[in-house]
Amino acid sequence: MKAKEILNKIKDKISFKLVSISMIVLLGLSLLILAFVKAPIFKGTKAKNQPFYAEKENPESQESQFHLEIATQINKTVEQILAKNSTNNATGSIGSASTDPTSGYPETILQCTRDGNDLLVLVNKQYQLPATYAPADLVPTSNSGIRVTQGYLYSRNVLINDLSELNSAAQAAGIDIAVLSAYRSYETQQSTYNYWVSTLGQAEADRVSARAGHSQHQLGTALDFTTSEIGDALGTQFANTQAGIWLAENAWKYGFVIAYPYGYESTTGYSYEPWHFRYIGKENAASWKNSSQILETWLQGQN
Ligand code: DAL
Ligand code: ZN
Repeated sequence: MKAKEILNKIKDKISFKLVSISMIVLLGLSLLILAFVKAPIFKGTKAKNQPFYAEKENPESQESQFHLEIATQINKTVEQILAKNSTNNATGSIGSASTDPTSGYPETILQCTRDGNDLLVLVNKQYQLPATYAPADLVPTSNSGIRVTQGYLYSRNVLINDLSELNSAAQAAGIDIAVLSAYRSYETQQSTYNYWVSTLGQAEADRVSARAGHSQHQLGTALDFTTSEIGDALGTQFANTQAGIWLAENAWKYGFVIAYPYGYESTTGYSYEPWHFRYIGKENAASWKNSSQILETWLQGQN
């Protein structure tokens, strides 16, 4: 009897070890497969030569805007999924104590206190634009004379002159700047956000992509810039380009302010976007500059 018991114990130990080893092997294989699947995103992306960059003239074109957003986010994906940095899980200071620390969205979503057409309207994870809001004065962003990476980009007419001046000043300094993304409808935000949830999972998606009604792009005054120096790509490498450096220093003079600066994810709700600028007008931008605050904090004081 005792011998049998000992034999059974040995058998149990062996099968336990076998199960453990199998699990480790399976885990290793899964990681290898994952690494291969994700590998292409390390190469970054070029706006040119991408099949989804076909020109579309319809500002509401969901498909083209959706694909544009994919390109916009691809480079960030590397840092945000695989190289989780110190700002990870740093969301949550927008709104009340009932803010979900994972998504950064508060339990109670409020409607924007100013009209969507107001250059100073606060749009963030707490304050949402009406689904029906769309700017009435959308015009092709290319009306400003700035280079655009695709023809269907639209922005509010109110910013066109100042964007034109910004572009001329950059050109005079020998710097190429282009616009890669501009107005985004409520529906486009929906499909874009859903795409990122299905790709990254909700927690990561919430760090890089606004839920419908929460994107500054719905205002028609938010622009994503790029430059030929990085082949018209989008990603944090933009910060180190001539265009990125020039915009960080000079864009405010033309009314454009960086919305998601480095190191402020806990305040803005979004990770660093050196390419995303919001137009608030020259005078407002000068006041903002004087305040030494980030745009989010400054706008909170205005709403
Ligand atoms: N990527 C910014 C946060 C947006 O989706 O509007
Ligand atoms: Zn943007």
